[in-house]
Amino acid sequence: MHVAFNLAADLDAVLLSAASTAGLEVAGFAPEVRTADSRHGDFQANGVLGYAKARKLNPRAIAEKLVAALPAAVPSAYEVAIAGPGFINFTLKPAVLLDWLRTYDSPAHLKAGAGTAKSGQTWIVDYSSPNTAKQMHVGHLRSAVIGEAICRLLDFNGAKVVRDNHVGDWGTQFGKLIWACKQARTRDEAALKSAIALDPLEEFERLYKVGNEAADADPTVMEQARAELVKLQNGDPENLAIWHQINGDSLAAFQLIYDQLGIKFDVMLGESFYNDQVERIYRELTESGIAQESQGALVVFHPEHPRFKTQPFIMRKADGASNYATTDLATALYRLEHFKADGIVVVTDYRQADHFEQLFLTVGKWFAGKNYRLPELHHVTFGAVTGEDGKALRTRDGGTIRLKQLLDEAEARALALVCERSSDIPAEERAQIAKTVGVASVQYADLSQNRSSDYVFAWDKMISLEGNTAAYLLYAGARIHSIFRKLGVTPGDATIEAAASPLETPAELMLARKLVKFADAIRIATETLRPHFLSLYLYELAGEFSTFYSADKVAVDDPAVRARRLLLCARTLLVLETGLNLLGLRTLTRM
Ligand code: ARG
Repeated sequence: MHVAFNLAADLDAVLLSAASTAGLEVAGFAPEVRTADSRHGDFQANGVLGYAKARKLNPRAIAEKLVAALPAAVPSAYEVAIAGPGFINFTLKPAVLLDWLRTYDSPAHLKAGAGTAKSGQTWIVDYSSPNTAKQMHVGHLRSAVIGEAICRLLDFNGAKVVRDNHVGDWGTQFGKLIWACKQARTRDEAALKSAIALDPLEEFERLYKVGNEAADADPTVMEQARAELVKLQNGDPENLAIWHQINGDSLAAFQLIYDQLGIKFDVMLGESFYNDQVERIYRELTESGIAQESQGALVVFHPEHPRFKTQPFIMRKADGASNYATTDLATALYRLEHFKADGIVVVTDYRQADHFEQLFLTVGKWFAGKNYRLPELHHVTFGAVTGEDGKALRTRDGGTIRLKQLLDEAEARALALVCERSSDIPAEERAQIAKTVGVASVQYADLSQNRSSDYVFAWDKMISLEGNTAAYLLYAGARIHSIFRKLGVTPGDATIEAAASPLETPAELMLARKLVKFADAIRIATETLRPHFLSLYLYELAGEFSTFYSADKVAVDDPAVRARRLLLCARTLLVLETGLNLLGLRTLTRM
């Protein structure tokens, strides 16, 4: 392959070596090549400005030196221009655009291009991670959707990805829950069984409430619940069996949602998995002097941090019990020792920001003391989901939203949309299409905006063919499929494409320029762990395709012109579908 996949990254590397030829202090120079505003060409390097400013040099003069030092391959592939105070603009020549499109002609070739960025690295992605015996809430849906997109992006960049569902399957709630289960069983075992069979999470939530209220009202119940917990922790077979059943039934219920979203975890190492590690954690952190006793608890302070110098990271409670921090410390250690992680990503809402900041600071010191390599640690946060009234998303009667119902409603609404538009498609296929569109709409609504912001869950905006929506993008793909169907041609047919003549019209060139920037969109989405950069790119690509399609007829008589336009259609389809799949969406050939 003679054309680089990521042209911006390639230019970056070339500029860096030109900098040394030109006598710049290479250690202090970063070219900073990025996708440019289209008025300025395809890519822009703006690193000269900062370099010159720091050294009180004339940036234009530096830019000129640098351009003069570029190897001949650059000006033969690009128009190079110095603009403004010292930006360097690069505009790809049409022949190179066509070369790129010819080279990256299949999902495998795209992946081979992107796959060097993180090759040889292992990344653990901890996402979804709901607590058992409880309904998953909208936050877990966001975590699942964003986490899956991040997994796919990392994988596409060549990493080995371990998808880990770190379920909350251990904790003090089990005392009350087991107590309430036993009560219910004594009263009417058959009724309990059928309630669990009907809706396990609903029943466990109800039982927990019963146990909780009884314990609050009556100290002897509180004692009994505590005793059940101690028995469970000491491995009492009966309590363990109940605990297993609660977790098993919970996971089976979660699985229905994962199936709809197309998520498959590699491991499900919940909090309980780390139970036998807690003593080691206490010991290591105490012996290394990182943790200290404070009011009976074992805690970590970070003197260098404005808040955490006084706000403790509690890793063993005053009553001697382990907690969320203990298991997360054990988890970090396991991910390094067992999986040899190079990177760890945990996806939860922003309210856990302090916990993870304290955790990562602690892990940093702990691993440094052990002479362990510190993996890259990322807490990927996201905002809250609100209803259109700005309040937390709830059902009409104020209850928690069942995610299963939410996804089912999405399908039903998508079906209405599909029926309205495509009455010619047989009913059975329409239902299939609606399934894809419904789930994709919910996923995409989440992935199309910066994850840090809160987002308003609005059905009408989400399931619509207008705007930056899943339906719009799926429809754009289906439309390209239909172009090929009508002409009786397979997308990407090599014999046809071999006949393509050079790109010529403004619309052809604009579309090709957008296509080659797929690589940079992937890079930025992966580096920032923010899938919306990819979503935005795909939305703009679909727009560029529409412009091209209305400006330039594809089915023209001239075989060479027709071939190059078919090539553009095929690559748009390829990039669009690859991109949507990277976001975790399923695509359609007809809609
Ligand atoms: N179970 C937690 C919750 O529902 C999320 C766990 C996230 N992962 C972790 N390693 N702490 O909020």
